[in-house]
Amino acid sequence: MTPKSDRTDLATRALSEPGANPASAHLTRQPGQVSRQERERALGQPGLTVWFTGLSASGKSTLASALERTLVNRGRAVYYLDGDNVRLGLNRDLGFSHEARSENIRRIAEVSRLFNDAGLIVLAAFISPYRADRDRAREIVGPASFLEVYLSAPLAVCEARDPKGLYRRARRGEIPEFTGISAPYEAPLAPELILPAEMSVVQAVEALLALLLSRGVS
Ligand code: ADX
Repeated sequence: MTPKSDRTDLATRALSEPGANPASAHLTRQPGQVSRQERERALGQPGLTVWFTGLSASGKSTLASALERTLVNRGRAVYYLDGDNVRLGLNRDLGFSHEARSENIRRIAEVSRLFNDAGLIVLAAFISPYRADRDRAREIVGPASFLEVYLSAPLAVCEARDPKGLYRRARRGEIPEFTGISAPYEAPLAPELILPAEMSVVQAVEALLALLLSRGVS
């Protein structure tokens, strides 16, 4: 089940943790009466974040949504967070500069942490191109609850797929700072799982289920 190091409630985690730099000093964390462990017990699962990273069109959304379908069919409580969707709502004020992407990832990590505290399994599918931002996300969520999954499809494969026609437009100079074309992507150095482009969706979901099983999700 939940690793011991992660058995800390939000209520007891200090405000000096990574990602916390509140605009006001006059804050006090309010403890609730219900612990994360209690919520996890009620749901029969540990709160976990599976963080999918990779280029646009590498398959993050396809796999996260397929995994969500499978887990929900098995009775798990899961929520899939997607780049485009979050940018249409919570992060509608953010663009694609390095700074905006960092803030995008920080907020999503905070949301994931809250959802994990609620006992949910989060499937977060974001390009998240900067290693430092993903490392910070791991710290915010809590390393014991964070599983980084790298979709290693190379640029040529993603560009050939181009389901939204974005690479074509980026090559024409119509989309500035496009990841892989005019903005960088830093591949993970030690992800929990690497899913190559050749793998089918069924095989990839199997690999993800095996990873989750090793963390107490059946
Ligand atoms: S991230 O870099 O900040 O992690 P995120 O995953 O939220 O990106 O959003 C990526 C999605 O935004 C892409 O799937 C694509 O549809 C869209 N998009 C629009 N402009 C860009 C851009 N300049 N670079 C990458 N993706 C972009």
